[in-house]
Amino acid sequence: MPSTVLIGAQWGDEGKGKIIDLLTESVDFVVRMQGGSNAGHTVRVGDDEFILHLIPSGILRGSKTCIIGNGVVVDPQSLFEEIDTLTSKGVRIDGNLLINETVHIIFPYHKLLDVLREELKGSSKIGTTGRGISPTYMDKVGYMGIRAIDLLDEDVFREKLRINLHEKNLFLTRVYDHEPLDFDEIYSQYSAYGERMRPYICNTEIILNRALKEDKKILFEGAQGTLLDVNFGSYPYVTASSTTAGGACTGSGTGPTWIDLVVGVVKAYTTRVGSGPLPTEFPPEADFVDRKRDREYGATTGRSRRCGWFDALVVRHAVRVNGIGAAALTKLDVLDNTPKINICTSYQCDGQAIKEFPNSTAILSRCQPVYEEMDGWMSDTSNVRRYEDLPENARKYVERLSELIGAPIEIVSVGSERSQTIVRRDLLQKRNSPTRGNVAGGSFQQ
Ligand code: GDP
Ligand code: IMO
Ligand code: MG
Repeated sequence: MPSTVLIGAQWGDEGKGKIIDLLTESVDFVVRMQGGSNAGHTVRVGDDEFILHLIPSGILRGSKTCIIGNGVVVDPQSLFEEIDTLTSKGVRIDGNLLINETVHIIFPYHKLLDVLREELKGSSKIGTTGRGISPTYMDKVGYMGIRAIDLLDEDVFREKLRINLHEKNLFLTRVYDHEPLDFDEIYSQYSAYGERMRPYICNTEIILNRALKEDKKILFEGAQGTLLDVNFGSYPYVTASSTTAGGACTGSGTGPTWIDLVVGVVKAYTTRVGSGPLPTEFPPEADFVDRKRDREYGATTGRSRRCGWFDALVVRHAVRVNGIGAAALTKLDVLDNTPKINICTSYQCDGQAIKEFPNSTAILSRCQPVYEEMDGWMSDTSNVRRYEDLPENARKYVERLSELIGAPIEIVSVGSERSQTIVRRDLLQKRNSPTRGNVAGGSFQQ
């Protein structure tokens, strides 16, 4: 059975958790394939709110199997805190959560180095979540990482930790003038974590490939967003993993031939946490988002999110590099009381028009947005459940966005509740032919 990848099309926090929760109803497996507990995916079910960091959001629907794929980096402390919080709220985690045996493990020195490196960068800091993500991926690609499977073998773990800590303590003491970390403390703490993780750890690529052959449905849950991708994001203001659709294969051990739909989650405006250019950022006097009401605070760090108008260049770039075939537009209701709405359709930089998202961050930081203005709808959409019942100007906005990004908008979300959703096409019904990006016109401009 072909599978579906869901990714964020902007700078993260697009509302992926809500859309994953919606789509999970129709699948058998939900798989995280990259990132770590830097993610914060919010799902509201009635009066309950859940924030998932590492565990796939599908866990809230007990009968689904949730997999933490090999591309994820796992902080055992944060994993167990999340498991304990979820179980205390009545969520069943019992045989329905599996962790790939080759996930790389986040150690205390990764978190410490994440913070110290940021301090050293001063005003050029990335604004990381401080969860040790980049230092852990650095060890992975530097052939130094320690994997879940290593924690389960006393001798292997001891030797790998010895080599690792020797190097990290040199960095800590000589570069950062910091106290060295203690081997015995980390060894005993992480040996205990390994034992607690043992029942969850297995070869999930075998399980997933068997499931695919048995016609089971798989949904890949992307974390972060396209503009934070280490290859296609606004480098260096990115995260350390492949947040784009390609990451679903390398981060799970399933081949690209099994994927036939990429769903891009797109916020009706733009937000970003952390540093880096954001061309459409609202000037303080014209801020149309009420951060408290609209929940524009980081779900992991609590930091205030920077907000701005919709940037069509950003999302068109995301449609291109992910092959987005269907978009889910979230938080349309946030614009309900905005009389005039701007959409960025191109940039001006050094006297030149720029029509596609530039790969140079230096250029991006000098870009001035060129806006197209639309009339708002000035009415409450949060109770609308059918597309044709949306106010005319809201439909015009959705259709204009679809045209500009080059992908059909098949889901419109008008509130954080499961029910506050307009589904224009059932995306996970049996599909006969592959669905790729750019199916609704809006061809990429030169
Ligand atoms: P994620 O990281 O992409 O899963 O997004 P976050 O959970 O970090 O942030 C999205 C926030 O918006 C959460 O507080 C959601 O409950 C909320 N949200 C999601 N969809 C909607 C929507 O359509 N309207 C409103 N008002 N809030 C939404
Ligand atoms: P979800 O899955 C928004 C940002 C951080 C920082 C940069 C690098 O909830 O959409 P890192 O700690 O990953 O090294 O930080 O990436 N960032 C996110 N921003 N949503 C996220 O996840 C993010 N995960 C990381 O703010 O700018
Ligand atoms: Mg989030």
